[in-house]
Amino acid sequence: MKILITGGAGYIGSHACVELLNAGYEIVIVDNLSNSKPEVLNRVRQLTGKDFKFYPANLLDITTLDAIFSENQIDAVIHFAGLKSVGESVTLPLWYYNNNITGTLRLCEVMKKYGVKKIVFSSSATVYGIPESVPISEECSLGATNPYGRTKQMIEEIFRDLNVSDPEWSVALLRYFNPIGAHNSGRIGEDPNGIPNNLLPYISQVAVGKQNELKVFGNDYPTKDGTGVRDYLHVVDLAIGHIRALEKVLRSTGVEAYNLGTGIGYSVLEMIDAFEKVSGRKIPYRIIERRPGDIGICYANPLKAKNELDWAAVKGIEEMCEDLWRWQSNNPNGYDTEVLVSAKIL
Ligand code: NAD
Ligand code: WQD
Repeated sequence: MKILITGGAGYIGSHACVELLNAGYEIVIVDNLSNSKPEVLNRVRQLTGKDFKFYPANLLDITTLDAIFSENQIDAVIHFAGLKSVGESVTLPLWYYNNNITGTLRLCEVMKKYGVKKIVFSSSATVYGIPESVPISEECSLGATNPYGRTKQMIEEIFRDLNVSDPEWSVALLRYFNPIGAHNSGRIGEDPNGIPNNLLPYISQVAVGKQNELKVFGNDYPTKDGTGVRDYLHVVDLAIGHIRALEKVLRSTGVEAYNLGTGIGYSVLEMIDAFEKVSGRKIPYRIIERRPGDIGICYANPLKAKNELDWAAVKGIEEMCEDLWRWQSNNPNGYDTEVLVSAKIL
């Protein structure tokens, strides 16, 4: 079984590639490395002892996309490739709409041409916008509040329309909550460009001295300690969720959305505390005003994924923080710590 992984050099994609290879799938990766480094591919090969083809290409490049499908007998696609910064999407909406939506349209065109109609798509809990209530279930109304989130919501609609036009399409829309942590080898993990936007990458950079202090965005939310509450899930649990979703799309047709989260919410202060305990490092922090666009509480009802995909997150926040700390302390500069050997391109 050969699976095309778009965005396979990225944070979540690389962890999914390790799990897929370990589970016996053959993979082909396409990634333009716009937010990732080729070194990650070497490490995926080292961790798994398996090889795969890598195409350093943009999804917008339909000629290369076509070549990928003509040169490989692809059975299904896992589609991670996309730009993901909320703030950047507000400043550069056309770039986001073009990259995420046009990229997906080109991918679907080529899939259609080659008769490949099975796909697992990286959606996001951000499609729920300001949640009506928590825990959030898949039936809750959607209302993304920024261009990035709207690309996800629109792509979900595109897949639904595609399935109406041709019911053989089989699509899993995976709405991730807040993925954190790293592979427990400490060899692959999240390597954000510049100053991290997200909480855990920021905390771990404070711990290794790359940032001076954490700024906590508000302590006046209606939550247990006033700070924002989120559903953090281990990236390896999330990666395994893709295998369960892939098995589902391979055996059925239709379009289904699934929340991938733990169902448990932790506050910013609880995450600082958990990280300090496992790392033994003090995380200095300062409370500042709320971050514009933030919501107070967001956590999943993950029962649909349990019932239909037989998937549930099993790793707790201690393990998430331990694995993040191992990755960050072994690789304080991410994938730049070692002399880069250019990725092997077959
Ligand atoms: P990432 O940036 O680490 O990985 C995305 C990869 O896609 C990168 O390697 C990038 O180079 C590649 N890419 C982007 N545009 C491309 C294009 N046009 N052609 C080819 N490759 C392209 O991000 P991630 O955290 O691994 O996220 C993966 C997916 O999951 C994204 O679609 C993201 O929106 C979604 N998601 C992420 C989170 C999160 O918190 N990390 C939460 C919800 C959803
Ligand atoms: C978590 C909590 C912040 C940083 C974002 C995207 C979302 C999704 C995941 C892709 C909040 C607080 C954060 C900091 C802080 N990505 N915080 N100081 O906002 O839930 O989601 O990433 O789909 O679309 O919006 O995650 O990690 O940024 O924030 O106090 O320096 O930490 O206010 O309460 P968020 P996050």
